Amino acid sequence: MAIISDDENLNHKKKRNDNTVSEEISYDMSFETNIRPKVFNDYIGQSSLKSTLKISIEAAKKRELPLDHILFYGPPGLGKTTLASVIANEMNTNIKITSAPALERPRDIIGILMSLKAGDILFIDEIHRLNKISEEILYPAMEDFYLDMTTGKSQTLKSVRIPIPKFTLIGATTKAGSLSSPLRDRFGIIHRLEFYTDEELTKVIKRTAEILNIDIEENGAIAIAKRSRGTPRIANRLVKRVRDFAIVKSNGIIDEKTSNEALDILQIDKFGLDNTDRALLNIIAEKYDGGPVGIETLATALGEDTKTIEDVYEPYLVQKGFLQRTPRGRKLTSFACKCFNLKNIDIQKSLF
Ligand code: ADE
Repeated sequence: MAIISDDENLNHKKKRNDNTVSEEISYDMSFETNIRPKVFNDYIGQSSLKSTLKISIEAAKKRELPLDHILFYGPPGLGKTTLASVIANEMNTNIKITSAPALERPRDIIGILMSLKAGDILFIDEIHRLNKISEEILYPAMEDFYLDMTTGKSQTLKSVRIPIPKFTLIGATTKAGSLSSPLRDRFGIIHRLEFYTDEELTKVIKRTAEILNIDIEENGAIAIAKRSRGTPRIANRLVKRVRDFAIVKSNGIIDEKTSNEALDILQIDKFGLDNTDRALLNIIAEKYDGGPVGIETLATALGEDTKTIEDVYEPYLVQKGFLQRTPRGRKLTSFACKCFNLKNIDIQKSLF
């Protein structure tokens, strides 16, 4: 078996001048890249999305044309970048990966678009953060594969159309609602990534453990899956933490007991909630009588920014039925009050 470094901090993606990262170069010895599935057969979960994509890929190959532009949306950590890489592999094409904040100046996006070859995939993460100018450069590029450029100065100003190769744009966002409709309308395939079931996460964990040569029992994997808040990125992170615990505190094998002990120490409860999730629910219960409370007020009380609350914490709390988003603000559900014995009992204490 290959020796695999699992150092999360390894900078596995080599940055290039054009603000993209090269996937070819990034398949090195790092943790994320080694465990990342490369073909649909290894990609667990998102079954309806995979079926749709497989048909689109087969049709595109038969027609010898690039795939339609694709937009993935949903909470972070569910595998949008991974899926884009899988698509590139299945299409036998190159992928260039960048994110909207890296495309600050018009020349950033123009440079990338002009460097593409026919059939290439351009992946733009956090696409809702693209600025207006870059977005407008993308419109004709996506629709008719050309760039609208101006040359010369004032009186001699001329507009020229520069053709670019037919490519596929894959956009990813945690906030589909923040995308402008002209941009959204240019994607042929729009799909939401769903939280993973415990069974799917168990498979992801077992696959990761095998790649990293970690000994894990079925019940150990299930115990981690249950506390991974439906998110493979979290599951993979927890596998490593539990592995460390197993090495130090027992025989290195991850079984149910080791998993549960390690996760208790990490203060991740049986619902997968961490200290911040519990603090959020606690604040609504204690300070705001169960809500509704506005997101800005909640963010200040919690000491987090609104974006992190909206993108990272809320989706899972809402999906689990603990939190409600109402027009008047965030509100605890009666289910949350029952589970955590709210409103005047400290959630942290009630859980451990
Ligand atoms: N690792 C992270 N996401 C994965 C997935 N969806 N399938 C398999 N392994 C993964």
